[in-house]
Amino acid sequence: MNLNERDSKIIWHPFRQLKNAPPLLSVDRGKGVYLFDDKGNKYIDAFSSWWVNLHGHANKYIARKIYDQAKKLEQVAFSSCTHEPAVVLAERLVKHLPGQPRVFYSDNGSTSVEVALKMAMQYHHNRGTKIGRIIALDNSYHGDTFGSMSVAERNVFNLPFNPFLFDVKRIPVPVKGKEQQSLNSLKNALDGSPAVFIFEPLVQGAGGMVMYEPAILDELLKQCKKNNCITIADEVMTGFGRTGKLFACDYLTERPDIICLSKGITGGFMPLGVTACSNRIFNGFVSDDKIKTFYHGHSYTANPLACAAAIASFDLLEKKHTAKQIAMISTFFERMKRRFKSHAALKDCRNMGTIFAMEIRTAESTSYLNPVSEQLTAFYLERGVMVRPLGNVLYFLPPYPISKTELNYIEKITAEMLSNFSKEMVKSGNGKQRIKRKTR
Ligand SMILES: Cc1ncc(COP(=O)(O)O)c(C=O)c1O
Repeated sequence: MNLNERDSKIIWHPFRQLKNAPPLLSVDRGKGVYLFDDKGNKYIDAFSSWWVNLHGHANKYIARKIYDQAKKLEQVAFSSCTHEPAVVLAERLVKHLPGQPRVFYSDNGSTSVEVALKMAMQYHHNRGTKIGRIIALDNSYHGDTFGSMSVAERNVFNLPFNPFLFDVKRIPVPVKGKEQQSLNSLKNALDGSPAVFIFEPLVQGAGGMVMYEPAILDELLKQCKKNNCITIADEVMTGFGRTGKLFACDYLTERPDIICLSKGITGGFMPLGVTACSNRIFNGFVSDDKIKTFYHGHSYTANPLACAAAIASFDLLEKKHTAKQIAMISTFFERMKRRFKSHAALKDCRNMGTIFAMEIRTAESTSYLNPVSEQLTAFYLERGVMVRPLGNVLYFLPPYPISKTELNYIEKITAEMLSNFSKEMVKSGNGKQRIKRKTR
């Protein structure tokens, strides 16, 4: 039995229908931007393994730092102990964070959001008040735990759980042309009583890489500040250089009260979540009254290996070379957008920093379940590029060490894919497209 067959007998994979699933790729190893399967084929990891990988796979510097830390201290209960990697990482982080000097650790993106929501709710509870309203953007995704599902768009990801999710007031995403509508909806939702506003700053990831401008987000945040509303920036996807700046909030003049980080924080080596907050929020928990304690924690909170990986990733992120790579990728994608923007096969094409996204025109619904996603995945995989489209939204979000040659290759096969689409559109005349599979 090969690995795939052994796997299918025993393992349940995330985001995967169990019936008639296409075979999994048996990944044997990674090096730089490449993943190698067990037959020796190599693939450019064009979505950074679910947006976590920053510096390439099996990065030796990060690996060595984890190894060094593992020989010293692998794990300790963070409720009663502290350790050097956790403190150093927090010190490094707060120097760069857009105004959140207090760091709370957890172990993934969903928990970082869960912690943020609980912090905001308990902040008011501790003051004897109560949050009246939680506000979120349409089309948002914040994770798969119950709190994070509650603040997300109601869709295929959370359908079976809808009756059990708490109520949220939604406002339109302030994309071009909808800025005023979004602002008005927010104003209507805010009445001065305690509230929370959670958002993915500038780019909504899982919702299809939907992008909007910093100026309108600043306006929304100003309204929140005026109206006793705690703001939570979910930078789980956008953090650590993805949008071109270290954090998407670095494009803003306003500062959110709470920020959520995960994914790229360890360079893609270890699971780690951070929820950082302002002194105002933090001080709301400092009390002689034990009831005002934040009773939240995970067994692996601030895992020393994860913190060591995050410090090492920070070292690499601060290198001039990384900044140059981020700038190179951003410029490349900007040009690529101009090239494809008005392509007949596309509804839209957009980019921000190291993120490039295209909305493919299809007859099917534009939801996550759009079958074009599987066709695109197969098309690129057959050409040595690993992608994971969000329905009809195909995006690239590569590790920072990707070269211009590799980007050129991605552009070349993207042009091929789009041209196949256009031809099929003309042939079928009904917008139902199939893309040509490569025969090997
Ligand atoms: C903006 C955002 N928040 C939270 C999450 C959840 O992170 P995790 O998958 O680590 O739980 C994601 C995951 O894609 C995300 O994009």
